[in-house]
Amino acid sequence: MVKKLLLLMGLALFISSVSFAQTYKYIGAAKCKMCHNKPEKGEQFNQWAASKHANAMKSLKGDEANDPTCLKCHSTAGSVDKSLLAGLTVQDGVSCESCHGPGSMYKTAAIMKNKEMALSKGMTEPNEATCKACHLGEKPAGHVAAKKPWNYAEFVKVIAHDDPTTK
Ligand code: HEC
Ligand code: HEC
Ligand code: HEC
Ligand code: HEC
Repeated sequence: MVKKLLLLMGLALFISSVSFAQTYKYIGAAKCKMCHNKPEKGEQFNQWAASKHANAMKSLKGDEANDPTCLKCHSTAGSVDKSLLAGLTVQDGVSCESCHGPGSMYKTAAIMKNKEMALSKGMTEPNEATCKACHLGEKPAGHVAAKKPWNYAEFVKVIAHDDPTTK
């Protein structure tokens, strides 16, 4: 009897730790803005807000704005499970968290200052594969052609939002 109870408790603990590990949620760019919009540190939010990524939903007309086929690439919120949305909206387009990972657990200053810690709390380091998932992913028939062929080195400069005080 005691053994069975211990087993059940162990199982419950296991299940809760598994679900805990998966609770990184998408908090939205407005939350990142609180700390990442200082001019002397590169105003990442403003850089992003002026980009094609932030405005990707504006390219979808009428019903396209509700079409999962389009949202998959034109909106971070539209590409993840709805239960993971904690502030991020479809209108935010391709948001910070598509490239840097869902921020609910890494968003505190203490964790953010420690890169290893942030990476263990849901932050991801964007690389070429991150971009290719959308840029070279399967686009629906009739999709407008890219103006330029994919070139990581060139494209990453277009979206750059470096912090001049780091590195
Ligand atoms: C409470 C303030 C705060 C919030 C909110 C915050 N950050 Fe940060 N972030 C920091 C600090 C502090 C650093 C460390 C570097 C620095 O001092 O600017 C940092 C570093 C980073 C880095 C660089 C990591 C590295 O070392 O390469 C990225 C990327 C980043 N944040 C993305 C985000 C994103 C995306 C969000 C929203 C989901 C976010 N941050 C929310 C404070 C914050
Ligand atoms: C696999 C990812 C992906 C899917 C799915 C996708 N798009 Fe796109 N879309 C892109 C990318 C990336 C661009 C930028 C240009 C390029 O590289 O093709 C873009 C650009 C566009 C543009 C041109 C915007 C401009 O400023 O010129 C329009 C319009 C557009 N998409 C509409 C749609 C519609 C409508 C759907 C759904 C039927 C859709 N897209 C589905 C990735 C995607
Ligand atoms: C389309 C992908 C993408 C989006 C969207 C995006 N970033 Fe980035 N971000 C990158 C890449 C790529 C880098 C460069 C990484 C490197 O240098 O290793 C970067 C770097 C950073 C850095 C580190 C800057 C430095 O020089 O230390 C911060 C902070 C950051 N991003 C915050 C944000 C915030 C906040 C948002 C949204 C408001 C955002 N990013 C949106 C891809 C993205
Ligand atoms: C979640 C999907 C997604 C990811 C991830 C993504 N992009 Fe994009 N990107 C798009 C879409 C969609 C557009 C077109 C937006 C529009 O105009 O409607 C776009 C547009 C762009 C443009 C402007 C292209 C033009 O013709 O004006 C550049 C440059 C770009 N992305 C670079 C990058 C880089 C570099 C990365 C990786 C660090 C990246 N993107 C990651 C979806 C994505």
